[in-house]
Amino acid sequence: MKKILVLGAGGQIGSELTMRLREVYGNGNVIASDLNPNRLTQEIKDSGVCLPCDATDAKQIAQIVADYKIDGIYNLVAILSATAEKNPMLGWNVGMGALLNCLEIAREYKVALFTPSSIGAFGPNTPLDNTPQDTIQRPRTIYGVTKVTGELLSDYYFERFGVDTRSVRFPGLISNVCPPGGGTTDYAVDIYYAAVKGETFECPLKKGTLLDMMYMPDAIDAAIDIMEADPSKLIHRNSFNVTAMHFDPEAIYAEIRKHKPNFVMVYKHDELKQKIADSWPNYMDDSCARAEWGFCPKYDLPKMTVDMLDKLSKRLNK
Ligand code: NAD
Ligand code: SER
Repeated sequence: MKKILVLGAGGQIGSELTMRLREVYGNGNVIASDLNPNRLTQEIKDSGVCLPCDATDAKQIAQIVADYKIDGIYNLVAILSATAEKNPMLGWNVGMGALLNCLEIAREYKVALFTPSSIGAFGPNTPLDNTPQDTIQRPRTIYGVTKVTGELLSDYYFERFGVDTRSVRFPGLISNVCPPGGGTTDYAVDIYYAAVKGETFECPLKKGTLLDMMYMPDAIDAAIDIMEADPSKLIHRNSFNVTAMHFDPEAIYAEIRKHKPNFVMVYKHDELKQKIADSWPNYMDDSCARAEWGFCPKYDLPKMTVDMLDKLSKRLNK
């Protein structure tokens, strides 16, 4: 890819991915866009072209692709799990609207397309331990239904039309730049903010709720590496299991307390988030991503915790 369009660049992933793409491909070769351009960070606004774009309107995407001779799209537009469950039609219309538009434009303009899937693409009758790459996918959230549909459609466009679609199933992503956008795994970010601010943290998930997680620098590497991977080595495409660590609320709390011994977490159960989390894998098998394109995350829970606390303390002046 030489000219890239990032859709949803103002979100949790886009805020960091856009800047890394500009480092790798050049500031002038990465166009940042969002439905709400006010969400774009100052760094993104200052370093390259930024445009408003509603990804559910195909004409708006096509115009940018044609004007800027785009040959790669990172489609980050979706409504995350907990928010989508409160408004399922919005979750479906935004997630599927953006994806179908991207697929059609990718076919017409010969553009490579990355659209993340998620641990949400699995459901309660998936094997939850060491979840295989290829297994039962019967999610019971609208978010999961859009993710499975997205995986199938993306493979269909590859098989049927030769569109270069690639994807990873991200676990919960933890970052210190942009707050998460209404997911079930948000607690694993919010807990660091509370620890740095010296506040008591109210955990919405129960003790023992295991979920896959990843620190944002590893997620950004994965998004770039999968698109740069040698296509002849890819047995799978949409979508690869990827994970870097898995833990429950007690484990992240204990890790933070090694650095902040006075930090306090209490449980304040959120029924919707708990039900969603219980239907997602405890930990996934990501051996196919490692074998087919060299996925190799660098951060585990202790290393991520040191970096999160350090960066957030500086960012929040604490
Ligand atoms: P986010 O909610 O933080 O950001 C989404 C961005 O999309 C927002 O800036 C929003 O303004 C924008 N947007 C919404 N509707 C739009 C539209 N119609 N047109 C253009 N932009 C629109 O999401 P994120 O966490 O950055 O996630 C990006 C992708 O990665 C999504 O597909 C999500 O499902 C997936 N994912 C995220 C995580 C995670 O933990 N963050 C985990 C797994 C998968
Ligand atoms: N972090 C996302 C969510 O909880 C997982 O896809 O919705």
